[in-house]
Amino acid sequence: MTIPSVALGGPLDMPLLGFGTWQIRGSAAYDAVLKALEAGYRHLDTATMYGNEAEVGRALRDSGVPRDEVFLTTKLPPDRAGQERATLDASLEALGVEAVDLWLIHWRPGRGKSVPVWREFLAAREQGRARAVGVSNYGLDDIDELVGETGEKPAVNQIRWGPTLYEAKVVSGHRERGVVLEGYSPFKTTNLADDVLTRIAAAHDVDPARVVLRWHLQHGIVVIPKSVTPERIARNAQLDGFTLTDEQMTEIDNLSRL
Ligand SMILES: NC(=O)c1ccc[n+]([C@@H]2O[C@H](COP(=O)([O-])OP(=O)(O)OC[C@H]3O[C@@H](n4cnc5c(N)ncnc54)[C@H](OP(=O)(O)O)[C@@H]3O)[C@@H](O)[C@H]2O)c1
Repeated sequence: MTIPSVALGGPLDMPLLGFGTWQIRGSAAYDAVLKALEAGYRHLDTATMYGNEAEVGRALRDSGVPRDEVFLTTKLPPDRAGQERATLDASLEALGVEAVDLWLIHWRPGRGKSVPVWREFLAAREQGRARAVGVSNYGLDDIDELVGETGEKPAVNQIRWGPTLYEAKVVSGHRERGVVLEGYSPFKTTNLADDVLTRIAAAHDVDPARVVLRWHLQHGIVVIPKSVTPERIARNAQLDGFTLTDEQMTEIDNLSRL
């Protein structure tokens, strides 16, 4: 399986398919991440808030996949504003790595705090403790504030995304700013029994979940499905061997409720 990537600047490439780990803890998190790496995922998404960084790190080490072949993201909870350095130290220690590939501000911190936190993120990147830094759940105005104050854009904005949330102007707004759009909750935001998805899936002899994931890839949007079910973990990564037509892409775009 070949997973396309997007360049984040310099030599750093971010695979468009990652494995989400929210609400998976303890041995379930270890088992799921190990299975994901076996199935070919080379991008893992965790967060301080998920409480599973130690299991994600242990599964990564035990998988035998070299560290430099896996893109690793974690996130700072907004209530840790002012404790950025200690929070990243704890993440790196739990994950058992010297640096993460991407460190995100999980949600916009309260009034007046977004820019100071962003300056700490830029410092962490300069120190090599995060190869790239970005944000999550930010609006385009929030991104413009960071760029206006520091001259540095987030590499990535991770937001809730799926066919029902599709907005061409959100895609183009990120592209114009050179910020990679990363979607989360691709299935929770989608009715996988939808007629359009079911028909397109049957035409390609795949399941609707893969149609949703393939739709992200063909838009150049990063997607990070989560599953604890071994068969689904493997199947969700089987995204080559079929291509959605332009017409099918438009039909899926039109599932948007916005
Ligand atoms: N930045 C943020 O604020 C934020 C917020 C939410 C999520 N995220 C990230 O995004 C990741 C993904 O989002 P998510 O966990 O909210 O939800 P999701 O990936 O949209 O959906 C997960 C659900 O879909 C089910 N599922 C997985 N594969 C399936 C398939 N092939 N067919 C049918 N159902 C399937 C899973 O069930 P089983 O597990 O039982 O198989 C689970 O119930 C998270 O894990 C996290 O890493 C980030």
